[in-house]
Amino acid sequence: MITNEDMKDQKETEQLLSWYDARRRILPWREEPTPYHVWLSEIMLQQTRVEAVREHYARFLREIPDIHALASADEDCYLKLWEGLGYYSRIRNMHKAAVEIEERCGGEMPKTAEELVRLPGIGEYTAAAIASIAFGQPVPSVDGNLLRVWARKTASADNIKVPATVKSARAYYAERISRTRPGDYNQALMDLGATVCLPKGQPDCDRCPWSRRCSAHLDGRELDFPVVPAKASRRVEKRTVFIIHDSSRALLHRRGDKGLLAGLWEFPGTEGVLTKSSAVQFLQEHGLKPTEIRKLPPAKHVFSHVEWRMTGYDVFADGLSALPLPEDYVAASRTDLEEIYTVPSAFAAFLNSEAIRSLL
Ligand code: ADE
Repeated sequence: MITNEDMKDQKETEQLLSWYDARRRILPWREEPTPYHVWLSEIMLQQTRVEAVREHYARFLREIPDIHALASADEDCYLKLWEGLGYYSRIRNMHKAAVEIEERCGGEMPKTAEELVRLPGIGEYTAAAIASIAFGQPVPSVDGNLLRVWARKTASADNIKVPATVKSARAYYAERISRTRPGDYNQALMDLGATVCLPKGQPDCDRCPWSRRCSAHLDGRELDFPVVPAKASRRVEKRTVFIIHDSSRALLHRRGDKGLLAGLWEFPGTEGVLTKSSAVQFLQEHGLKPTEIRKLPPAKHVFSHVEWRMTGYDVFADGLSALPLPEDYVAASRTDLEEIYTVPSAFAAFLNSEAIRSLL
């Protein structure tokens, strides 16, 4: 039997979809939502702003247009295409999953959230997003946006970082998700969260299709929800970074295979803050003969759990190209830096320094 409650929920779903039809964001991955396109965009969008993804998405697809190409791409190539997005384990897992899809599923992406979630790098949220957007399965993809909308709409006082709360939100949406347009339903909520039911500052309730059904809004308590525990503070690490170069090349060091930024290239450095004279001594102890050394402006990079505060030195050292180097070091030209080596954005300030920009 259809109850009044069911009718009300159906009406809400229709209101949301009408709002989406009129106000949805125009995003490149929405134009041709093949499983691979949706998968790539969802992985890129984890922890990365839509605007940064826009730039990388098209370039990535030009070089690696489908699952087969990803499965056979080499590591330097896909890491380079990921440069600037950060969290490189995302693309490494995606590559592993592509190999698995080629080998186990004949190159066809699995269609259900239950199967998708077994692939490397695909969690419940991403599995639901792919299953609903690419395959029309009615599964809610509950990310931070959907949680915030739910917490305000129901005035839930539960901590949204607790798995049981995510489960409640998922159950709530699972009852209401459109059976005919599940992908649009999820994306409508993502857009509502990103453009109207904003996380910081005042949400724009006048533009919300659900404002008359939102408990937080009706009580004037929008900012009391969602309930989020206070963040643990980040660890601060101080580092010294050297741009060691001659007129045509700069030294890069490949980071170890484990831990933060594993396997990526960095400017050589050491823990702690070195003064100019101790920096010179450090470099000499490592077999370098700096002819000029200049302190650079301090730089900072914030990761999820650590913050790096970096002291940088521009070090001119003649004859770098002729120097015998250990195997985890290279003397890279500007073209090498642009085309081959992936230097993460944690080093952006140094990558944009005069020393690097003026390499011949
Ligand atoms: N964030 C994560 N997935 C998204 C999508 N498909 N559209 C817009 N924002 C998103």
